[in-house]
Amino acid sequence: MSTVAESAAIAPAHVPRVPIPPRGVDYRGKIVLAPMVRSGELPSRLLALHYGADLVWGPETIDRAIVGAERRVNPRNGTIEFTRVPSNGGRAEKAVKESVIYRLDPEREKGKLVFQLGSANPDLAVQAAKVVAGDVWGIDLNSGCPKPFSTSGGMGAALLRTPDKLVSILEALVREVGEPYQIGISVKIRILETPELTEALVSRLVRTGITGLTVHCRTTPMRPRERAIRDQLRMIADICHKAGVACVMNGDVTSRDHGLKLMEEYGVDGAMIAVSAEANSSCFRTEEAGGLAHWRDVVYQYIKFCIESENRYGNTKYLLNMLIPGKAQEFKEAKQSKTYTDVCRRLKFDDLVPQAMQLDEILDLTQKQELNGPTQPSAPKAVQNARDNNESARAAGGDNTRPNKSNASTTSNVGPIRTSSFPHPAKAAKPPSAVETNNSPSTPAAAVAVDAPVSAPEISQQPGVTA
Ligand SMILES: Cc1cc2nc3c(=O)[nH]c(=O)nc-3n(C[C@H](O)[C@H](O)[C@H](O)COP(=O)(O)O)c2cc1C
Repeated sequence: MSTVAESAAIAPAHVPRVPIPPRGVDYRGKIVLAPMVRSGELPSRLLALHYGADLVWGPETIDRAIVGAERRVNPRNGTIEFTRVPSNGGRAEKAVKESVIYRLDPEREKGKLVFQLGSANPDLAVQAAKVVAGDVWGIDLNSGCPKPFSTSGGMGAALLRTPDKLVSILEALVREVGEPYQIGISVKIRILETPELTEALVSRLVRTGITGLTVHCRTTPMRPRERAIRDQLRMIADICHKAGVACVMNGDVTSRDHGLKLMEEYGVDGAMIAVSAEANSSCFRTEEAGGLAHWRDVVYQYIKFCIESENRYGNTKYLLNMLIPGKAQEFKEAKQSKTYTDVCRRLKFDDLVPQAMQLDEILDLTQKQELNGPTQPSAPKAVQNARDNNESARAAGGDNTRPNKSNASTTSNVGPIRTSSFPHPAKAAKPPSAVETNNSPSTPAAAVAVDAPVSAPEISQQPGVTA
């Protein structure tokens, strides 16, 4: 018997298909990592790929945050970083450092990374998408985030109520980004209150030239803990298929095996996983291949990817809180750590210590370690509070971790963290008509003000998000 993935790959010729552009990805037969603010930064995506995710979505990035960002290749690890100088809020005495808005790995994410955009304006969406289009394999428009900071700007789930605007953004992206850069444009929506409303919306969306549509099977007011509703799924998949658009389902998919089963049951082309991957990315591994890995193995691999990616330590800690079970002693240890060296020692990942020390130096964390010492006394109540906050932040997809003010500098003299699997910078793929730098003069005056070196989603999505 053929698997869902196989039958998707050998679908009969008479089924219409919006052509997949040469540099684009086909979502059919794929189990993918969902876009997640904070939880979807580069190391998490590498972790998901390591355990078998077929494609990975990056965290939603708001158009105004990426427009004007400068593209550079990190000479130590070959990653591509989109950076910008944050606003200092008009305070002359405040030092401003570059902020990495988005980071990707052109080798390990090649052919697998989809960039998710938050926008409520076709022109801005196009400007923003062009900044990254040469380095990613798809652009997805977020049309599902229910948080007021997003909807009040007309973005996210607000677009579900303004279908003309949503359609015009998708059409502009298809025409001005998808076609010239030869990548696919997709959209991620939620279901509407009635099947009729959803049907009317999806019928319009599939005619915009998009190659894929992901449906989060919850309505906008539904909380993340409420069970996903799958009643409308088959109808949505049918509309997509008639128009030749791939349909990816999302909502309470817990593993690759579960996703494959649901794909078969509901006739959809792919399945997207969020919170189950956030808790243990080895959910992308089939039972046959070993199933869920022990959290220590996952955490070891995650820290390794964090070090290789030069991930901001605050963000690393955020995901460690998700990956380490709250009852484990190591949870407290990781919570108290202030540096990569510290966390590797506390978790007894001794072989990672030399690279951790190097990275702490690059990220300016060494001083922190010396000031605080590796064995700070624990504060059980504070830890518990932080953990509780974390739980609710997780439910909301939001933050509980203060942004780390340190920032990686590519001008540091510290040697390479890793030289094995990253491409040599000189050999790093240069996109066809890539925007090396983009300091567009048309950046709106009201563009997001950045006070600290934080990534775009953090800028734009406080105090929390889920889509
Ligand atoms: C921490 C977190 C951050 C999220 N950020 C985004 C986002 O940036 N863009 C988006 O479309 N959805 C976002 N979501 C929603 C997920 O992509 C997904 O639609 C939702 O969690 C349902 O999938 P699940 O049931 O597998 O968790 C986020 C969810 C979480 C938990």
